Amino acid sequence: MTSPPPPWALLAELTHSCPLHCPYCSNPLELVRRSRELSAEEWADVLRQAAELGVVHTHLSGGEPLLRPDLAAIVAAAESAGIYTQLVTSGVGLSAPRMSALASAGLRSVQLSVQHADPAASDRIAGHRSFAAKERAAAVVRDAELPLGLNVVLHRDNLDAVGDIVDLGVAWGAERIELANVQFYGWALRNRTALLPTRDQLSRARETVESRRKQLAGTAELVWVVPDYFDGVAKPCMGGWGAVSLTVAPDGGVLPCPAAGALPDLDVPNVRDRSLEWIWNSSPAFNLYRGTEWMSGPCGGCPRRETDFGGCRCQAHALTGDAARTDPACALSPDHALVRALAEAPSDDPPPDDARRYVYRGPRPARRERSRG
Ligand code: SF4
Ligand code: FES
Repeated sequence: MTSPPPPWALLAELTHSCPLHCPYCSNPLELVRRSRELSAEEWADVLRQAAELGVVHTHLSGGEPLLRPDLAAIVAAAESAGIYTQLVTSGVGLSAPRMSALASAGLRSVQLSVQHADPAASDRIAGHRSFAAKERAAAVVRDAELPLGLNVVLHRDNLDAVGDIVDLGVAWGAERIELANVQFYGWALRNRTALLPTRDQLSRARETVESRRKQLAGTAELVWVVPDYFDGVAKPCMGGWGAVSLTVAPDGGVLPCPAAGALPDLDVPNVRDRSLEWIWNSSPAFNLYRGTEWMSGPCGGCPRRETDFGGCRCQAHALTGDAARTDPACALSPDHALVRALAEAPSDDPPPDDARRYVYRGPRPARRERSRG
C-alpha cells in the first residue's frame, strides 16, 4: 500500500465541556468526561508527531478550549513544533490577561462563534447569556492585534438576519466571516424540525451574502458553506476522508472528521496506543473511505467522484444507516428522495409551537428544553 499524502491540518478538541448549549452542536452525542482528557504533555507529544507528519495548522477547539487552564502550554507546544495555531472559541472567558498569555505563547489567530446579531436572539440560540462576552472577546482580540474570524452556523432562526450578522462581524473587526449552513447529523439531527430553513429564506440569504461580498471586497472575506439539503449537490466533506486533515478528540481518539465517532463500524484508533503516523497512514479507520476504491453505486463511475469524494459519510449513515452509500444530498443518489422530502417540507408559515423548541445540548444545561421567544 502506498502512503497517502500527508495531512496539513489538525483539529484539536481539547475538551468537550462548554458553557454554551447550541442546538446544532457538532460534538458527538457521547461527550468525553474531563477525567479522560489528554494532559498538556500528551497534547505536546501529539503536536510534535503531527508536525513530523506534515501538519502545519491546528485549530484548538472544543467544547470551549478556554476551559483548559493549561491552554497556553498547549499553544506553546504547537508553536515550538512549528504549527500555526488558531483558537476556536465561544469567547466566554477570553479576558485581556488570558489573551495576552495566549499571544505570548504563540497563538496566531482567533475564530469566534456568533449565533445572531441580536443579543437576545444570540443568547436564546446558545442557551446561555453569552453575547456580551463575545463582544468583549472580539475587542480583546483586536487590542492584541491578532486576526479575528467569525463563525456562524446558519439555520431557520438566523438566516433572515445574515446581513446584520455580516455588519456585526465587520463592526467587531473580523477579517473573515464563515457562514456555514447547518449540517444535519449529531445533535442537529435532533433539532432538524426547528432548524431546517425554507428555500425562500436560503435564496434571500444567498443574495444578501453576494451583495455584501461585493461591498466588502478587499475588507473582509465572506465564506458561504452550502446548504447541501437544498442544492442537490454533495459537499466534498473534510476535503475527502483521510485526505487533508484529522481530528483528535479530548481522550486521544483520532478521527477522519469530528462526527465520525458515531459510525458503528469504525474502530477508532487512539494516540495513547498508536503513533499518529501509523494512524494516518495505516489504520483501518483512516483507510475505510479513503480515495475512490470503496465507492459503489452511482459514485463508482461518476466524473465528480474526485471532486466531492461521494459527499459526507456521516450524513449517508445518519439518513440511510449505511455510511458507504452515496450521500443522499446528491441528486444522483438512489436515496435522494429522503433529502428532497425534508427540504420541501417546511413552508414560510410559522410552524406549530412544538416544532419551534430546541433540545439544547448538554451535559448540564440550565433547562433541557426551552421554547422560542
Ligand atoms: Fe458525487 Fe457520488 Fe453524486 Fe457523483 S454520484 S456527484 S461522486 S456524490
Ligand atoms: Fe463525517 Fe462528513 S461529517 S464525513
